[in-house]
Amino acid sequence: MMVEVAKKKAKKSKQSHRIYGLITLARPNSHVSEQFRTLRTNIQFSMVDKKLKSLIVLSATPAAGKSTVAANLAVTFALQGNQVLLVDCDLRRPSVHREFGLQNQEGLTNLLANQNGNGIDAYLHSCEVEGLSILTGGPVPPNPAELLSSNRMKQLEKDVAERFDLVIYDTPPLLGFTDAQILAGRVDGTIFVVHYEEDTKEDVLKASESLKMVNANVLGVVYNRAPVGQKDQSYYYYSYHYEE
Ligand SMILES: Nc1ncnc2c1ncn2[C@@H]1O[C@H](COP(=O)(O)OP(=O)(O)OP(=O)(O)O)[C@@H](O)[C@H]1O
Ligand SMILES: [Mg+2]
Repeated sequence: MMVEVAKKKAKKSKQSHRIYGLITLARPNSHVSEQFRTLRTNIQFSMVDKKLKSLIVLSATPAAGKSTVAANLAVTFALQGNQVLLVDCDLRRPSVHREFGLQNQEGLTNLLANQNGNGIDAYLHSCEVEGLSILTGGPVPPNPAELLSSNRMKQLEKDVAERFDLVIYDTPPLLGFTDAQILAGRVDGTIFVVHYEEDTKEDVLKASESLKMVNANVLGVVYNRAPVGQKDQSYYYYSYHYEE
């Protein structure tokens, strides 16, 4: 299978044994990990007529928890036996590499700029999780939105959709940048992370409007950092809701 080929060629980072902030790996039996499994099931059931091949995780404002949700979701899908690719499309402040303790000297930006003429295999990282490959963001470019709108990016999305069971894209905040909006119009499904009590109603409405403009398929909303009663659950908490 093509994915197997990609995996064999995948580059292993020197630091790839270090896992940061990945509760689904650190505490697989925790309440939060269970919530990620529920989120996975809900996402799988949300697409009835069409197979879900690509997902974007976005939020209206910065620091809502997009990268954390994207990384844990990628782990959760891979642990189910899926071949998953996590792509860091936050080309303004790439962070996915940090979650997995990977290097980010090279990544998506080099691939899109066609530096050295290398294909994607030269940039893929494997990690501790079998079936999970990672494409880090690479050096911050001067023109992220232009790169994400490019034909090379569109072709890349098509190629990886064929090679992997699921591709998850992490993005910069929606308000202020067009990057996430560009991708949301092309992927199969969108997961909207809302920072509980930080994101205002206005933020969420503005973000929803921009998603409507590109006909984004919003599969659901993750309320991140919502308080819960029990002490051991209060640090990480995710709650998933369907949009109407
Ligand atoms: N539920 C949570 N409980 C506690 N800490 C969290 C939670 N979700 C995210 N964090 C932490 O909050 C910080 C911001 O999270 P994250 O980087 O995932 O947000 P982001 O939306 O991707 O931010 P950015 O807009 O900068 O890309 C990180 O340090 C992360 O570990
Ligand atoms: Mg982020």
